[in-house]
Amino acid sequence: MFELLLVCAYLVGSFSFAIVLSRYYGNSDPRVQGSGNPGATNMLRVAGKRLAILTLLGDLSKGLVPVLFANAVGLNLQQQAWIGLTAVIGHLYPLYFSFRGGKGVATTAGMLLGLYPPAALLALLVWSLTFFLTRISSLASLASVTLCLPLLAWQQPLALLPVSMLSALLVWRHRSNLKDLLDGTERNFRD
Ligand code: G3P
Repeated sequence: MFELLLVCAYLVGSFSFAIVLSRYYGNSDPRVQGSGNPGATNMLRVAGKRLAILTLLGDLSKGLVPVLFANAVGLNLQQQAWIGLTAVIGHLYPLYFSFRGGKGVATTAGMLLGLYPPAALLALLVWSLTFFLTRISSLASLASVTLCLPLLAWQQPLALLPVSMLSALLVWRHRSNLKDLLDGTERNFRD
């Protein structure tokens, strides 16, 4: 059952809402516009608020639903965390879209919500505060991920290994953002 759910989580995670919605509404692929990231932030830049919100909700549900399902069929918390991580890996390296996916923040938020809602709430607060102060989405994402994933691992030690791998993956996927942040050239929503 666990192995089957891992495969399903990867397949669910591989469904890129940003790419599918863009195709459906006749927009260009978000991977060749703006930051090149098929995620809600870049959809807000290149496709507008409505598609950005749909992308955010879709990507969030890809992390939430597999974890809730794993919980409902009686898998333990560590197994649920592996399922959530696999859904995020699907988002980062999607089978259906040449393995060129997003950065995984919304899907991670959905996973957090399913595993440990207080960490998801804190992630939302940290993200909102950082974004309010800086208007930089990647900085808000990095701040919230680097604070809230360790909190989850501390409160739910069983999830330590998958959550550590997830943290490393998310930081790796934001490496171009980190470089731009250091150079002072990162995209923001001030201008
Ligand atoms: O959640 C994605 C965000 O962290 C960065 O997105 O498009 O600014 O690279 P973007």
